[in-house]
Amino acid sequence: MKTKVYDLKTQYEEGMNAAAEEIQRGGLVIFPTETVYGIGANAFSEEAVAGIFRAKGRPQDNPLIVHVADIAGAESAAHIPEEAHPLMDAFWPGPLTLVMPKREILGSAVTAGLDTVGIRMPAHPAARDLIARAGVPIAAPSANISGRPSATNAAHALEDFDGRVNIILDGGESAVGVESTVCVPQRVPLILRPGGVTPEMIKEICGSVEVSSAVMRELKEGEAAPSPGMKHKHYSPRAEVYIAEGEAIAKKIKAMYDIEEARGRKAAVICPENFAGEYGARRIYPVGEGAEGAARKLFATLRQLDEDGIDVAYFHGIDRGGMGLAVMNRAMRSAGFKVI
Ligand code: TXA
Ligand code: MG
Repeated sequence: MKTKVYDLKTQYEEGMNAAAEEIQRGGLVIFPTETVYGIGANAFSEEAVAGIFRAKGRPQDNPLIVHVADIAGAESAAHIPEEAHPLMDAFWPGPLTLVMPKREILGSAVTAGLDTVGIRMPAHPAARDLIARAGVPIAAPSANISGRPSATNAAHALEDFDGRVNIILDGGESAVGVESTVCVPQRVPLILRPGGVTPEMIKEICGSVEVSSAVMRELKEGEAAPSPGMKHKHYSPRAEVYIAEGEAIAKKIKAMYDIEEARGRKAAVICPENFAGEYGARRIYPVGEGAEGAARKLFATLRQLDEDGIDVAYFHGIDRGGMGLAVMNRAMRSAGFKVI
């Protein structure tokens, strides 16, 4: 299979038509969203959905998010509870996935046998246009081989799926950079995965919000996962990653960095731009300003570590408020929860 990449700036109609056709005939399409790139298929076709799991090497027990272009699309796949409406009104289209009771029409592969389904209406106009042209909701996980950092541009998606999908739509860099917030709409909305819509934003709309305690720690032996994604390894570069948080972060990192380098290992620091000065001549991967900047660059940076043959990387922790929670959640998982 030869993978064809369409640049949406110059080949919009051609790319969209080919992609919509590919979805209709049961194939896979990689497309941009405002969060990360998705690898999508017809959500109503069990066979097409099976193709996603195969291409990603995704564990069968991890359900996919179903993307819709409009409210009617959401209603075709899920029973929408009353509590979902204020969230849909406030944050759709946008980086919020709502976990709701699924309709019969959805097969069991897409929801991994659960009786709920995660539905999202993406803000990226090309994503919604593709869904509308295909005429069916599109099931799409992030466009990365399972376990690898998510793809935030077409080149990274191609790196993982060259020869494994027919079509990639190139819409440039993802605006948000981390995935959608996964949330159960209920009296007190429950966040299962922090993302582009922050707990503070949800609280402002609903008056309250709960963040699942399992978001920032490893599940205990035998503990039930509130969301199947929590069970699996994620966002992992080949390099060993450590997180430093709390007091004297730069001091802790510098000490460990220097020990590793003295041992002949290639070390690196991932840090917000405003802390770069604290690391002197050490190898630095700056991730922009503030939590939003870090969100945009995190996955690309994790991929870059591999390109550069880094053995051990230290992540200079950022404040967990706002988008910081989503950034630290991804960082923690990429580190396998190793904190110094
Ligand atoms: O921003 C995003 O959400 C991106 C883009 C492509 O839209 N998609 C994405 O999909 O991140 P994926 O498959 O990489 O992550 C989906 C997460 C997983 O952690 C999964 O366990 C959780 O959502 N999830 C899906 N359906 C669920 C359900 N019914 N109940 C609980 N968790 C669910
Ligand atoms: Mg993913």
